[in-house]
Amino acid sequence: VGAGPGATDLITLRGLQAIRKADVILYDALANADLLAEAPEAQKIFVGKRCGRHSMEQLEINRLLVANAREGRTVVHLKGGDPMVFGRGAEESLACAEAGIDFELVPGVSSALGAANYSGVPLTHRGMADSVAFVTAHGPCGGKSLNLNWKRLARNADTLVIFMGGLWLEGIAQELRRRCLRAATPVAVISKATHSDQQTVVGTLENIAQRVANAGLPTPMLIIVGKVASLSHVLNWFENQRKAITDGISLTPVPGVSDRPSPQ
Ligand SMILES: C[S@@+](CC[C@H](N)C(=O)[O-])C[C@H]1O[C@@H](n2cnc3c(N)ncnc32)[C@H](O)[C@@H]1O
Repeated sequence: VGAGPGATDLITLRGLQAIRKADVILYDALANADLLAEAPEAQKIFVGKRCGRHSMEQLEINRLLVANAREGRTVVHLKGGDPMVFGRGAEESLACAEAGIDFELVPGVSSALGAANYSGVPLTHRGMADSVAFVTAHGPCGGKSLNLNWKRLARNADTLVIFMGGLWLEGIAQELRRRCLRAATPVAVISKATHSDQQTVVGTLENIAQRVANAGLPTPMLIIVGKVASLSHVLNWFENQRKAITDGISLTPVPGVSDRPSPQ
C-alpha cells in the first residue's frame, strides 16, 4: 500500500481501507506512522529502510509477508509514496506470487507528485517541458550510481526528477554540468515534501549544492532539474500559505484589488 508522500490526508481511500482491514502492518521509514492509528488492533512491525540504516533486509521483509499470510492474516506493507516507484513493490509481489499468496497493489501519491504539487514545480508545462524522467541517484542502498548516463537522460527528458540524491547533490550537479546541461539550468530541491515543515530551495546547477547546504535541509529530498523549477517562486502555494499564516497576512484576494501584498 502506498502511504503517499507524507501528509496523512494524501493516502488514497483504498489505502486507508486496506490499513483498517489489516491484521499485521509492516511499515517503512517514509510512510507516515500516524496512519497506523487507523488500525488500533493490528500488529505493527517497523521494517524501515533508509540508506545506511537498514532496519531489515529485503529478503526478511519478503519472508515476513509470506509467513504472516500463510497463517491466514491480512498483511499490509505500508510504503512511502507509491509502491511501484523505487518502492520494491514488484519484488515483494513476486515473492508473494512465488509462494502462491494472493496480493493487491494499492497505488499511492509518489513523492515526485507530492513534491511537484506542494512546491509549485510542474513536472510538465506547455511550452517549457514535454517530458519527464524519474531517476534514482542510488544503486542498491549504500552504493552511489553517479555513473548513470546523465547525458542521455538530460537529452531525452526536459525535466529530471532525482530520487535518493540528496547526499550526492554536489556530484549530481557537477556531473550534469560537465556532461550536458548549462550551469544556469534551474533546480529545485524539496525536503520533506507535503509535511508541515516542507522546505524548497531553488537555484541553478551552479549554486544549488551550496544553497541547500546553507539551508541545512533534512532528508528525504527530491531534486527536480529543468526550466520548470523556476516556477516554484510563483507557484509554491504551500510554503507561501504557511509563511503568510506565520506573518499574519491574509492570502484571500480582495475583490477589485489586484496587487495584494506578496507573501514572499
Ligand atoms: C526508496 S525511494 C521511495 C520513493 C517512493 N516510493 C515514492 O514514490 O515517493 C526514497 C526517496 O524518495 C524521495 N522521497 C520520499 N518521500 C519524500 C518526501 N516526503 N520529500 C522528498 N523526497 C521524498 C527521496 O528522494 C527518498 O530518498
